[in-house]
Amino acid sequence: MATQAPINIFDPSVLLDPYDAYAQLREGPALHFVPEMNVHVASRYDVVKAIIQDTKTFSSEYAVFFDTLRAAGIAAATPEVRAELERLQGELVEQVPTMLTLDEPGHSKYRSLVSALFTAGEIRKSEATVQAVVDDTIASLEDATAIEFMEGFAFPVPLTIIGQRLGIPEEDVPLFEKGATAAASGLRLTPLTGEQMIERAQTAVDLQNLLIRLTEERRSNPTDDMISILANARLEDEDRLLNHPEIQSILNQFLVAGHETTTSAFGWGMLLLCKEPDIQERVARDPDVLQTFIEESLRLEAPVQGLPRLVTRDTEIQGCPVKQGEIIFLRYGSANRDEAKFEQADSCKLDRKKAGAHFSFGAGVHACIGAPLSRQELSLGWKALLDMGKNFRLSPDQPEPQAEMSFILRNLPELHIEFDR
Ligand code: HEM
Repeated sequence: MATQAPINIFDPSVLLDPYDAYAQLREGPALHFVPEMNVHVASRYDVVKAIIQDTKTFSSEYAVFFDTLRAAGIAAATPEVRAELERLQGELVEQVPTMLTLDEPGHSKYRSLVSALFTAGEIRKSEATVQAVVDDTIASLEDATAIEFMEGFAFPVPLTIIGQRLGIPEEDVPLFEKGATAAASGLRLTPLTGEQMIERAQTAVDLQNLLIRLTEERRSNPTDDMISILANARLEDEDRLLNHPEIQSILNQFLVAGHETTTSAFGWGMLLLCKEPDIQERVARDPDVLQTFIEESLRLEAPVQGLPRLVTRDTEIQGCPVKQGEIIFLRYGSANRDEAKFEQADSCKLDRKKAGAHFSFGAGVHACIGAPLSRQELSLGWKALLDMGKNFRLSPDQPEPQAEMSFILRNLPELHIEFDR
């Protein structure tokens, strides 16, 4: 018999600050069942690791789970809104899985094409452009000593970088930024009005059309950006170029996975520095601990709190039975704070050995392909911020920063800070 979770970790109030609930789950069996969501939850490090490694039994082809949630949201809309959403849906190319939600051998087929975009050489080449975006963003703050950090830095830096690496022309940047933001907002739980649902669907169509146009242009006039590389990538076994649904699927993953996550890492890292002046002082004084700080802040506040896996056969995990067709939700955010793996797991320890052993970038065959780019953005970003200012602190006249509600992402929508120059 599956053990029911003592607490619904998907309850909106728990999602705001899930760490006590996670700790409670880690004390119990390997899996808990959450009836409100009809999923099992894996909260311990060893259990999450075992599931990630057994990709045959625990499949990444779980997209149907989110399709069902999305369909429930649409079903709740008025008939007029539903009709308009269906019309807009019809303007989208077919949705095909490529990497994140595809098992082997299909997964590797796409991943090996895309990995050329993230080699160590590519990342080294991108250093100057990442630095330029960081410097421009710092310059745009002028002489300010009080800012809303998310809007002023954490949000624009990763978005501008992914836009540049994709090769979005200057005049299309506003539409691209609107579309990228809307794509990621699909993972939030904030309820939308019918009008907002239609606007978001229209934006998705506009963004798709922009990316298709750019793909066609780069087929005839390639440059060295990501869209050119995807537009001209060949699936050798099938002797053909990638088609539009495949390219859209890959680009969509770069947009959703590649921008709000790094924004989130900057936000939570800044909150940590503000709340722990001793850590801030050490990180500012000693550049050698910066990398450990980056890993510790990623570990403590995983931007991707969890993702599902689909069970492909009846089995059990450490005595907990699961059936074919059931969903297990991995909670990376909980595994990262498991005392059995990380001593003083709730604390940021700048002398932690193997600080990078967290699951914030996942692990195994689906491990985050963009992790080297993110780490580069975070390294250059933090260095520039700590050169620009000191004594970073929360603005005293603002409410306590609060996370946005999502089953998957953990983000800070606003973070008001002050600092000295
Ligand atoms: C702090 C920043 C980031 C975090 C926390 C993050 C997190 C993750 C996680 C947890 C996974 C594993 C998914 C799984 O278990 O199934 C993943 C996969 C992925 N990430 Fe990231 N990511 C970040 C940045 C990026 C960037 C910058 C890009 C691209 C521009 C990117 C693209 C991807 C893609 C394409 C996958 C799917 C890989 C596959 O299935 O083979 N991510 N990411």
